Amino acid sequence: MAGRVNIQTLREMKSRGERITMLTAYDYAFANILDEAGIDILLVGDSLGMVALGYEDTLPVTVEEMMHHTKAVARGYERAMVITDMPFMSYQVSDEKALENVGSIMKFSGAQAVKLEGGARIVGLVKKITDAGIPVMGHLGLTPQSLHQFGGYGLQARGVDEARVLLDDALALEAAGAFAIVLEKVPAELAELVTAGLSIPTIGIGAGPNCDGQVLVTNDLLGMFEKFTPKFSKQYTNLRAIVGEAVQSYITEVRTDVFPTPEHSYSMDKNVLDTFIKMIDKGLEES
Ligand code: KIV
Repeated sequence: MAGRVNIQTLREMKSRGERITMLTAYDYAFANILDEAGIDILLVGDSLGMVALGYEDTLPVTVEEMMHHTKAVARGYERAMVITDMPFMSYQVSDEKALENVGSIMKFSGAQAVKLEGGARIVGLVKKITDAGIPVMGHLGLTPQSLHQFGGYGLQARGVDEARVLLDDALALEAAGAFAIVLEKVPAELAELVTAGLSIPTIGIGAGPNCDGQVLVTNDLLGMFEKFTPKFSKQYTNLRAIVGEAVQSYITEVRTDVFPTPEHSYSMDKNVLDTFIKMIDKGLEES
């Protein structure tokens, strides 16, 4: 596909029934690899708190950290759309404070859109942000910033009432101007019904195969994060093992003088070397 991905591209993909692919990226190197591989959306998720910064959950992540990582991602892509998560408490205190935080992310980070967790409670804010010309992606179902309210990372919207609330939230986000919605850890049948009921794309994670697109945490897909492996994630390779083996080979080769070889070294010009050795010898004789 030619050109950069934008919200119009995503809407067209939904109408053509073309699946949208999204992965998380937290730095320049991975943004570059994922973009070159053809990913549609790079999400600078606040999951970076857990997989890149080593926090217990996403709650400690700050606007400054999101800004720092988004800037790095935004230097590494050509085609994909870059979306940044607004971290916990950056949009809950007041709409004014939220608009300030969203505004500075959009002004200075290089992202093309922001993602906010929540339904009815943030619909008014979503309207204000989209009215300011800033694209918003919603996030419903398991919203990790509400971890303590949920009492864990369990399946959401299992019952009729919860399912109804989720559908209403999705419709309200769409009406408020959201351009897409992430559905996390909800029954596949519900995600399919919500997807059919919206004109904007849904991006699923643990929401079955019938969303308009899929997202995974890249570190899970690559087997880099072992602390927590959700059932809905699929590990496509074991980068932790591959990197571990490469590093062990390096350690062994350095310890046994196998690396570096002349191939990895630089030589001094013969005349320069002779002159330098004579200079040293002379210096030693004089002292
Ligand atoms: O923070 C994140 O990585 C996310 C995705 C899992 C959707 O929100």
